[in-house]
Amino acid sequence: MRAVILVGGEGTRLRPLTSELPKPAVKLVDRPMMAYMLEWLATNGIAEVVMACGFKPDAMREALGDGGRFGLQISYVTEDEPLGTGGALRFADEQLPDGLGERFVMCNGDILTDLDLAGQIKRHRELGAQATLSLVPVADPSSFGLVRISDDGEVLGFLEKPDPSEIDTDLISAGAYVLERSVLDLIEPGRAVSIEREVWPELVGEGLYAVADRDAYWLDIGTPDRYLKATADILSGSVTSEAGARLDERGLAVGEGCTIEGTLVGPSVLGDGCTVAAGATVGPGAALGDRVEVEAGASIEASAVLDDCRVGAGALIHDAILSPAAAIGADARVSELSVVGPRVQVAPGAAVGAGEKLFADD
Ligand code: GTP
Repeated sequence: MRAVILVGGEGTRLRPLTSELPKPAVKLVDRPMMAYMLEWLATNGIAEVVMACGFKPDAMREALGDGGRFGLQISYVTEDEPLGTGGALRFADEQLPDGLGERFVMCNGDILTDLDLAGQIKRHRELGAQATLSLVPVADPSSFGLVRISDDGEVLGFLEKPDPSEIDTDLISAGAYVLERSVLDLIEPGRAVSIEREVWPELVGEGLYAVADRDAYWLDIGTPDRYLKATADILSGSVTSEAGARLDERGLAVGEGCTIEGTLVGPSVLGDGCTVAAGATVGPGAALGDRVEVEAGASIEASAVLDDCRVGAGALIHDAILSPAAAIGADARVSELSVVGPRVQVAPGAAVGAGEKLFADD
């Protein structure tokens, strides 16, 4: 079965991490963010993936290739204008020489999950559904769009940002769907269509079902705090992943050609060619890319430091994201969910905090 993955968005909330690369191509721990989804799809029996691209499609292709290393085959389609979640699906069907097929999977491209997609596909078949959504519970239902279902899983309706008195469920859509071809007929061609707002409501009572997976790990990686949560959860093993499985008994995975004179505290991952000088501490919860230089006395904790970054002597990186080739001056402090953009230089002794975002041309 094929899966269409929506990857056309600009990822604005994750800027400047996504200023130069589309979100799915940005590194998460030790591989592109999309790699986690491809590994999950392959584990659930998906053999072919169609990337529905818009923003920077070439960078996407470069990061993911033909899919061989993930155990599946990837093809790419690119919208000239964003067509929305429904329009992108219809466009992908039109672009493929043999269409999407009679039954297929559709996923939002920015979820990290281990939910039971194979079980959802099986349930979809048994129910004879037109469309089956996967649902996951949330702790605070008031700020989400909620889905009401019957005991046998038929979707009864949607509650968008409900009033507290209306809340009678904690289930939200996980952004993974199994669809019959007939759903494509409900999407008008050539214009932007939201599948959530325009198609699902039309299908209520017409074969729209949902499967709730209360045990699954699920996270939408849309914001810096959720990118850091994803990093922490992969490192701690809260979500099953190939990246997490690489950690040794100390909770460490250290790439080739690293020079480590300082202290490493697990769980942490270091890419190839990193240097950690004497007196520096990396971890816990540190994900370093390739060729990261950590100078004497610096400390990196609960943070993502991408390829080619330099962290100056005595600097402190805590709960922060450093995009590729960022350089942090000596004794600077970068913390509190701040994001330093690609190649940005932070002055010695500077304090960057409170969710600040530093762009290259600021
Ligand atoms: P923000 O700009 O930060 O909201 O992020 P985003 O661009 O990823 O948008 P959002 O989180 O709303 O999108 C959910 C998923 O759908 C992401 O994987 C997007 O790439 C994808 N997506 C959203 N709109 C489109 C579209 O018009 N076309 C395609 N192909 N994908 C889309």
